[in-house]
Amino acid sequence: MQLRKLMRYGYRSLIGEPHEKRDFAFYVMNQFAKWLDMRIYNKHTNWQDDPEVLAVMRRFDPHYPRIKERQFFLYNLARSLRHLPGDSAECGALDGASSHVIMSALGDDRPHHIFDSFSGLSQPSEHDIPKTEAVRALQAGEFASPLENTRRNLAAHAQAVFYEGWIPERFGEVADKRFRLVSIDVDFYEPTRDSVRFFYPRLVPGGAIICDDYGFNTCPGARKAMDEAAECFGRQVVHVPTGQGLLIK
Ligand SMILES: C[S@@+](CC[C@H](N)C(=O)[O-])C[C@H]1O[C@@H](n2cnc3c(N)ncnc32)[C@H](O)[C@@H]1O
Repeated sequence: MQLRKLMRYGYRSLIGEPHEKRDFAFYVMNQFAKWLDMRIYNKHTNWQDDPEVLAVMRRFDPHYPRIKERQFFLYNLARSLRHLPGDSAECGALDGASSHVIMSALGDDRPHHIFDSFSGLSQPSEHDIPKTEAVRALQAGEFASPLENTRRNLAAHAQAVFYEGWIPERFGEVADKRFRLVSIDVDFYEPTRDSVRFFYPRLVPGGAIICDDYGFNTCPGARKAMDEAAECFGRQVVHVPTGQGLLIK
């Protein structure tokens, strides 16, 4: 049965319409992925071609304007929070791609606060060791990117405010602010814990924290920190299939 399907698809891929060639490519890749016990996205989803998000990504990187699934979700989340009062923030911005996505989606000039060491990841704790040796352990210092690089990449967003330093050293500077959206992407337990504990009480009702690392085997500490905080605040993290975790106030 599978062989007959493969032959039919194969034949059409040679003489067929472009969509039939695409179907064949998808079928082959899907079979290969299944063989490796992996999954690929449903071929009928259309988020990869969303013109609005594509235009946003093109502004950040004209040479490789691809939409990644987490950026797509982040963009749509931020868009859905536009109507709320409050600022936005990101803990762990690297070269600024996700902050660009957030500010573009929010589409106004309210401050966006960026906290980053710009020296890469901090020291991992015991909670950050992956459960199996098959998963690579992230190291202190990974993802270092100079502040000036991020500042240049975000030059079009005058509302970006930069706080260089180790989390939570500079949180006190925004202690009197309220937030509609906070993105946490610092990979390890301690900075994720400090970020969610600081920002959740400062979210406006309906505001959200999104943790980029929540569902990744490389970041067990981030999940632990989010779950502990959610329990403490009487909430539940929404585990998104992209690997992100969402905490809504
Ligand atoms: C994975 S990268 C962020 C990627 C970015 N959000 C994006 O999607 O484009 C992690 C960032 O967190 C920062 N970081 C990690 N631990 C930190 C800590 N304890 N304090 C401050 N910054 C930290 C690193 O410098 C790095 O820029």
